[in-house]
Amino acid sequence: MRTRRDTRLGFQPPAVGDEEVAAVAEALRSGWLTTGPRAALLEERLAEYLEVPHALAVSSGTAAMQLALVALGVGPGDEVITSPITWPATANVIEHTGAAPVFCDVRPDDLDLDPDLLPALVTERTKAVLPVHLAGQPCDLDAIHALGLPVVEDAAHALESRYRGRKLGGLSDATCFSLYATKNLAAGEGGIVATPRDDVAEAVRAMRLTRRGDGARYDQAGPGFKANLSDVHAAIALVQLDKLELHATLRARQVALYDEAVDGLDGITPLARDPRDTHALHLYVVRIDPERAGASRDEYQRALAEERISTSIHFLPVHRLSWFRKRYPRQPPLPVAERAGEEVLSLPLSPAHSEDDILDAADALRRVHESFTA
Ligand SMILES: Cc1ncc(COP(=O)(O)O)c(C=O)c1O
Repeated sequence: MRTRRDTRLGFQPPAVGDEEVAAVAEALRSGWLTTGPRAALLEERLAEYLEVPHALAVSSGTAAMQLALVALGVGPGDEVITSPITWPATANVIEHTGAAPVFCDVRPDDLDLDPDLLPALVTERTKAVLPVHLAGQPCDLDAIHALGLPVVEDAAHALESRYRGRKLGGLSDATCFSLYATKNLAAGEGGIVATPRDDVAEAVRAMRLTRRGDGARYDQAGPGFKANLSDVHAAIALVQLDKLELHATLRARQVALYDEAVDGLDGITPLARDPRDTHALHLYVVRIDPERAGASRDEYQRALAEERISTSIHFLPVHRLSWFRKRYPRQPPLPVAERAGEEVLSLPLSPAHSEDDILDAADALRRVHESFTA
């Protein structure tokens, strides 16, 4: 077994190099800093990659979801069904439209929405469903579409995912991707609304930017947002898009190394990946059962930090965060999500890491497991 690292292993450092630096320099020298030709090219290339008529570049994954919900007419008095196992932004954007999030419990194996529990949550106020493809594992979209409601997908983790062979992006009313610094296609900040619907694309296009007119006169048809993507970020994203396949290969190798390492560690189980789908391998999440693994997730996280291995948590259940507890004091318990929130731990995964880095993390986990189960 390897010995403890001398330096800290980062959780998800960005995999950027000289090509991204050159692309940013070129964008700056071009004199076009805000939304311009690079953002337009990114939209064109992503529409092709995602096999969808429209891909609209916006300033974040959060903005993508908010604009998509507003474009679909979600507003005050409405309800939107979503997952509690997500980054709070997913629920926040529902709040910001004036609607209320209705949290549906998740499946224990992959922590995506549990399709069996969805029908009972639909009321006459339900305006949309906002499923989250956690870690890159697509949700059961057939069951979600069968509800007959508009669907906005949170695909922040799922750029490369395919659901039963079909690319995410054109399967629902809108699919929202994130270009945040840790994501598989990292621009620093940014987001994409993909949609097969011309009316949704037109609404998002109109809202994302309060356009300047010809200098003399301007007007506005509605109170828009300021959520356009700058050409500087688009320049980074275009280079990252060229590296997507290479990065996917590196991630797949790292995931295989972890699979091999955790196999046989009693009480440590990776989230399930459905072989019928393509998983984007955005995160490597394990569940730590304290009974069998000899210690809690928090104890494992601390012990790994002492081994100089950074980890993260995806996610704490949103409905248990203080603001949502205050806002919805009668929220019914969601036992699977609540238990998962105590057990999930994400291990370092990034094309910026070497195989040696991942083997260091895997060996540290084995050592920690051995010490807790001795
Ligand atoms: C599941 C999920 N949804 C939405 C977001 C929000 O994306 P952004 O940071 O680009 O606004 C994130 C995190 O970044 C996320 O992990």
